[in-house]
Amino acid sequence: MMLILVLLTSCTQPQKEEKAAIVVGFSQSGTESNWRKRHTESIKEELGKENYQVLYRNGFMNQERQIQDIRTFIAYKVDIIIFTPLKEDGWEPVLKEAKDAGIPVIITDRNVNITDNSLFLTHIGPSFKAEGNRAGLYAYNYFKDKEKEHINILELKGLSSTSPTTLRHDGFMETIQRDPRMNITLTRDADYIRLKGKEQMNKLIEEGLLEDIDILFSHNDEMTHGALDALDAHKVKKDLVIITIDGQEDMITQLKKGRINAVVECNPNAGWYVRNTISRYFNNQSIPQEIYMPETIFSDQSQLDAIPTRNY
Ligand code: AHR
Repeated sequence: MMLILVLLTSCTQPQKEEKAAIVVGFSQSGTESNWRKRHTESIKEELGKENYQVLYRNGFMNQERQIQDIRTFIAYKVDIIIFTPLKEDGWEPVLKEAKDAGIPVIITDRNVNITDNSLFLTHIGPSFKAEGNRAGLYAYNYFKDKEKEHINILELKGLSSTSPTTLRHDGFMETIQRDPRMNITLTRDADYIRLKGKEQMNKLIEEGLLEDIDILFSHNDEMTHGALDALDAHKVKKDLVIITIDGQEDMITQLKKGRINAVVECNPNAGWYVRNTISRYFNNQSIPQEIYMPETIFSDQSQLDAIPTRNY
């Protein structure tokens, strides 16, 4: 009788102990745009499909705060860190701390400027240079057959010392230089923020500097919205070719209304790629050091009704 009892209890006991959930630390840089909010949601949504325990921190566009957030993840001994750098420089020491603690790091969206690439597992993000190329190519094609002596461009730039700002500018220059009539004659910084875009455009209008401008090249939709608000407030009626980057739903609406000319897509949906990379890492599969996400351009020459609904 005793023997049967022992055998039965041993059969009902779990064979193996349940594996502890993988702990993921996710440090986001801020919430400055609808694009950024979608980027965060996309990653959280996909991580939610796995049995991961996710620790999320928002850096509120403050690099020191983000560094502190990463240090907190290291102190918690998380299994992996996902991090969206606010700026390019200044990350090497904290990434080294993560490496010394044996914690792999996935970088998403913007790039970091470091000398030792072994400090991170992979970078998953858009090709910012290609986005600039697409914007410039649209401008080039738009004016190709138009008779005009000079084509003056106003560039509304995003946050300085960040890879999207540098590379979007470089990519744009690369394609507009095919036409010697095209020049960036005015540059203003608006940090990817709508209100700053509006302030900069207000000033330019009030100073009479917009009169000679033919093209507005804006590094993101939020700043473009701000610029449009300023144009409306001053009732400016002029032919201005407007090219913007991101592809938020609210900007596609402006494109459909004929208010702007082209929207270069910046893909915020990094979540699937992040989830896939984490799974590959824990299954000892190879991971490329750079993962680009697919992107396109929507313009007044696109089939506007065929543009897929955006989720941001
Ligand atoms: O780093 C990507 C850029 O940051 C997006 O274009 C912009 O909207 C965001 O704030």
